[in-house]
Amino acid sequence: MSKLHADYYADAMHQINAPLERNDQIGEGTYLIRVAAEPLAKALVPGQFVMVRLAGTNAPLIGRALAVYDVVCDDSGTPVWIDLVYLKKGTFTTALAESPLGTQVTLWGPLGNGFANRRCDRLIMVSGGIGQTPMLLLGKEAMGLQDFGDETRENGWAPAVEFIYGARRASLLAGVNDFEKAGFQVTLCTDDGSQGQQRLVPDVLRDRLAELADSGESIRVVTCGPEIMMEKVAEACLAADIDCQVSMETPMACGIGICFSCVAQVRQDGPDEWDYKRTCVEGPIFDADQICW
Ligand SMILES: Cc1cc2nc3c(=O)[nH]c(=O)nc-3n(C[C@H](O)[C@H](O)[C@H](O)COP(=O)(O)OP(=O)(O)OC[C@H]3O[C@@H](n4cnc5c(N)ncnc54)[C@H](O)[C@@H]3O)c2cc1C
Ligand code: FES
Repeated sequence: MSKLHADYYADAMHQINAPLERNDQIGEGTYLIRVAAEPLAKALVPGQFVMVRLAGTNAPLIGRALAVYDVVCDDSGTPVWIDLVYLKKGTFTTALAESPLGTQVTLWGPLGNGFANRRCDRLIMVSGGIGQTPMLLLGKEAMGLQDFGDETRENGWAPAVEFIYGARRASLLAGVNDFEKAGFQVTLCTDDGSQGQQRLVPDVLRDRLAELADSGESIRVVTCGPEIMMEKVAEACLAADIDCQVSMETPMACGIGICFSCVAQVRQDGPDEWDYKRTCVEGPIFDADQICW
């Protein structure tokens, strides 16, 4: 029988009430919020998330998971603020988009396991839709651009970072400047050809992996976005024998391992052996070959 214990229970979680200091539109239906959350900003690992609610209201009652997009330091270099990016979609994100600066939000986190920081020569981050949100921090850590979070964790473990990012149309590509400013090699794709290549991101990745096949470089791929896109990315990596991690975004209710609303089918010891894993405490990051798509 598999263990019920998870390695990433929310024991290190902080709950914080803080006012919105930014709530800026950065793309079509896409917004960036900033809140002071120092204990959280100091502890987190790229790929972790927070649960967020509007304080003092029951609509909606259940918090929503948002990946941490960025950490912002004060003048002394202390990590103080966290930035979150969200797409206006349903109940919570519509209410958040309509919230003026100063609105109190409740956050709890950091939650989940975060991406591995296994050394490689080149990290390729592949995102679709709103799946860019966990990638900025990861790329910054990989290139050693920002020293934050868990002090025992290595910073600067991939000298080259690429970002392949697709959306339905140009207006939905949000935060591209942040990725370019960080120095990542950015490739954009849109379904309608309104910006970048008119191709799907897994196809772009497949070609890039073929180009790099004889380079002798060790390559890692990480991906976040619609499940079908991640499945195709995982397939491309498996075919090329490339290490790939995925960030699962199964709907969550508690975020701390209690409700089992977030489970995904994850392989254990062999291709036919799987169990349900809670993506909030046993993920959201999994090795791609573990997921039963
Ligand atoms: C680990 C994790 C990280 C996430 N990070 C981000 C992020 O950085 N930015 C962001 O915008 N969103 C993120 N999400 C999704 C987010 O938690 C919310 O589900 C989403 O913002 C919709 O909330 P809502 O209240 O606006 O919509 P709701 O009113 O809850 O739902 C609107 C519609 O979306 C569907 N839906 C709800 N949740 C999901 C889901 N997780 N996957 C697929 N469909 C869903 C519902 O079935 C419904 O059709 C993340 C989810 C997880 C689990
Ligand atoms: S969201 Fe409740 S167990 Fe994962």
